[in-house]
Amino acid sequence: MRNNDNGATIEEIKDRCNIVDVIGRVVNLKKAGINYKGLCPFHNEKTPSFVVSETKQRYTCFGCNKHGDVISFMQEYYNMDFMQALEKLADEVGLEVKKVSRPGGEKKDELFEINRQAARFFYKALREKPNPGLPYMRERGLDDETLRVFGIGWADGEWDSLRTYLNNLGYSDDKLKLVGLVSESNGKVFDKFRERVIFPIQNTSGKVIGFGGRAMGDAMPKYLNSQETPIFKKKNNLYGLNITRNEINKEDAAILVEGYMDVISLYQAGVRNVSASLGTALTDSQAKILKRYTRNIILSYDADEAGINAALRGMDILKNEGLKVHILKVTDGKDPDEFIKKRGKEAYLELARNAVPFAEFKLDNAKRNHDLSTVEGRIDYLKDAAVILSELSPVEGDMYIKKLAKENDISEGAIRAEMARRSRKPERAARADSQVRIPMTNVEKTLIKVILTDASYLDRDVNYNKLFKTPSSAGILSAMKQVREAGEEIDINKLEDIIDEEDVRSLEEIRRDIKLAGHTEEIFAECIRKIERQELRARESELIATIEMADSVGGAEKMSELMKELSDIQRELNVRGK
Ligand code: GTP
Ligand code: MN
Repeated sequence: MRNNDNGATIEEIKDRCNIVDVIGRVVNLKKAGINYKGLCPFHNEKTPSFVVSETKQRYTCFGCNKHGDVISFMQEYYNMDFMQALEKLADEVGLEVKKVSRPGGEKKDELFEINRQAARFFYKALREKPNPGLPYMRERGLDDETLRVFGIGWADGEWDSLRTYLNNLGYSDDKLKLVGLVSESNGKVFDKFRERVIFPIQNTSGKVIGFGGRAMGDAMPKYLNSQETPIFKKKNNLYGLNITRNEINKEDAAILVEGYMDVISLYQAGVRNVSASLGTALTDSQAKILKRYTRNIILSYDADEAGINAALRGMDILKNEGLKVHILKVTDGKDPDEFIKKRGKEAYLELARNAVPFAEFKLDNAKRNHDLSTVEGRIDYLKDAAVILSELSPVEGDMYIKKLAKENDISEGAIRAEMARRSRKPERAARADSQVRIPMTNVEKTLIKVILTDASYLDRDVNYNKLFKTPSSAGILSAMKQVREAGEEIDINKLEDIIDEEDVRSLEEIRRDIKLAGHTEEIFAECIRKIERQELRARESELIATIEMADSVGGAEKMSELMKELSDIQRELNVRGK
């Protein structure tokens, strides 16, 4: 039965679109019996095992077992949630999704409406009365058509013109506060945006969710943006995407820039597959949104240090979402806006074509951070490079290993050895940051048991702080010292009052599980020997890796110094026995 109210049901939408057409747009499907077959878009394969049934309106991959209907295909392939997939399909077949009223829905609708009215107010203000905003935007090279497309407006310098306007339309101050259009101070309510050019920010459905305001001249702050509101979540939106997403999809690439003006300038110049994160660092949810339109991202951030750092952070986020990242660096002017005004569209597109893959950018950046005229600098650079390379896929990694080896005149083997070492050794810092407790070693446990058995071991001439490396053992050690220094007997109950919750459990385990089989003095000596031997071994393998590199970077003097230390350590290890 047809719905006579607004919108179609899920079944109606599914009925109207043929799964073969929808999937056929992105997978090359061939008729095979009564079904269609193609290469699975969800896993890598060379012979087709992805089957689409027109009669059942379902797909199944016999390789990776992904299966479902047209909606789940959209969700999976374009990384959408259910409603987004449904809306996109409905849109394609000329239907509208039946609105299910969600709690809070009407309230949001009203907030959108307030923003729409405010945007209209600003828009008219830029055009109907003389104001500094219009000449300013013209001076920055924007034509009327561009100003129209982006809905650019003007907030005048009165304290309450927008407020009065919206109050007269029936919206209360509370509502205006909620969308961040007015502020309140000392009981006075006033317009938040004053004497600024206004950039309305729209979501991909075209609803106005917030505003950015550019001050005239050097007034501070340069940009004022709406605060987070029930309808404005910066991390979930990108500036300009409502206007540019079709172009991004068509070009199969998105150019990401830092500022509103960069988006608008590029757009006017004819580079239309462009967007910007909203004055904050790129988020993974923004990466997911972009992925709906393309998997190729070109980061075109400002040429300054801040821009480079933002790019370095951004590319990791994008990479984690499985996007392909290239970096474009403008060679003239401080940002894409300035570049394209000076040099034009073709010059910018040339830079885009020559954008460097993210790994290359990271390697170049690592290089900049080291003094390559010294052996230490070159070794450190290679160590950083090894970390970067070990994050790449094997094929990519291989390509860069060759390149790096050639450019720096070192052996590929040395780089590979360093990469292997990196991937074996968990980063201490990273682990300390996370919530994971690092388990105590057996040697640490045994030593603690020894001290619990005989507290006088604490007075030995031994650097326990150095021996107890894990946070747990260090915590227990300091508690034991505290008790001993107070002149009291070390007993477990006393310790348990002063150590962390998790360490109490470790302590219980030590009491229960660790048995001192043999003479305490001998056990103690063996623990110390073991720890010292571990340290020597660690230093040995570090030296070996460094020597391989020093060899490659040609530091003869440094080399002999390292060799000397290595042979001392190896002799020491020999003397000590296994
Ligand atoms: P123009 O000087 O107008 O060309 O600015 P821009 O587009 O070059 O911007 P800039 O590189 O200075 O900053 C990039 C983006 O960061 C802007 O589009 C804003 O979103 C944001 N931003 C810049 N300045 C400020 C500020 O003072 N406050 C806040 N909240 N955001 C800012
Ligand atoms: Mn700029």
